[in-house]
Amino acid sequence: MWAGTNAGRVLLSVRGFDPAQWRELLSRQRTVVTELDDPADPSIHYAVVWKQPSGILARLPNLRAIFSVGAGVDHLFADPDLPDVPIVRVVDDNLTGHMVEYVAWRVLDHHRQGMTYRANQAAALWFDMPQPRADEVAVGFLGFGNLAKAAVAALRPFGFQLNGWSRSPSAMEGVRCFDGPGGLGPFLAATDILVVLLPLTDATRGMVDHGLLGGLRRGNALGGPVLINAGRGGLQNEADILRALEDGTLKEASLDVFESEPLPTLSPLWPHHQVFVTPHAAAVSDPAHLVPSMLAQMDAHDGGAPLRNLVDRAAGY
Ligand code: NDP
Ligand code: OXD
Repeated sequence: MWAGTNAGRVLLSVRGFDPAQWRELLSRQRTVVTELDDPADPSIHYAVVWKQPSGILARLPNLRAIFSVGAGVDHLFADPDLPDVPIVRVVDDNLTGHMVEYVAWRVLDHHRQGMTYRANQAAALWFDMPQPRADEVAVGFLGFGNLAKAAVAALRPFGFQLNGWSRSPSAMEGVRCFDGPGGLGPFLAATDILVVLLPLTDATRGMVDHGLLGGLRRGNALGGPVLINAGRGGLQNEADILRALEDGTLKEASLDVFESEPLPTLSPLWPHHQVFVTPHAAAVSDPAHLVPSMLAQMDAHDGGAPLRNLVDRAAGY
């Protein structure tokens, strides 16, 4: 629907993303500004943001909602002056599909000893590795939300044991579900490949540390626990992950997110033979998929409809 020239304008502030395509697509229906000539511009009704400069949103008197261009919204809460308007996060089939591919890729690669075979190839070594059955291996999702549930559906046909841990109780056929602080220990003790898909909040920051990794199932069919983190780098303690790899607490890790991004050139994670690094690329936000639904939500909201995929501000995600 064409919102018309009187529709409120959109502030686009996406640090770390090329704004050109976002701007072009948003401009098809709304006037878009990327620099605020007037910091208290009353004509701005919506903001589309990623790591916006602190304080800029608080000054806009008629802001109706904030749209995050990512599924995670920790970048927004870094602004101490975030105004009290609804926040919409990304829930999108295209992004979910890419995350499912990433998780399936990394789980299957670790399960089929891909890291060892790549090292063996480099050294022209011909010998086969133990080949556990999928039903001997438990994949556990630390954070059992939208993305984790979609990944479960993709992994299920292989026959893996499946576990999920969330804040509130949840249920899914064929998945052992655990929740809350009391459920964390039993969840870890039943998990061989830990897939981290938590949001970064005050409650989750730094929780993937040596103690947590030490709680994973010992003596498993893979030859040791595996960590896959595609949630946020702030969830993990990288010094602890390195220590866990050195002392055998952890066998291997696939890391898409890091405490500091880009991962510093001198980080010991780069050359580590038990670590697979990707540059926060598990699932990249695609404006061609996201902007049409943002514009539709803006129009619907102007017409009085409730917004979808809202963030719970108290929970922080
Ligand atoms: P959801 O909000 O759908 O799911 C989050 C899950 O984490 C829920 O199960 C939630 O529990 C659980 N959770 C949150 N806080 C706690 C806590 N304190 N204790 C236990 N469980 C907790 O998010 P998505 O699945 O859509 O996305 C997850 C994260 O993935 C995003 O926040 C983002 O950081 C990251 N991401 C990374 C990308 C990448 O390219 N690397 C791309 C997209 C997202 P409950 O079910 O009870 O609410
Ligand atoms: C996201 C991300 O949160 O790209 O969507 O990390």
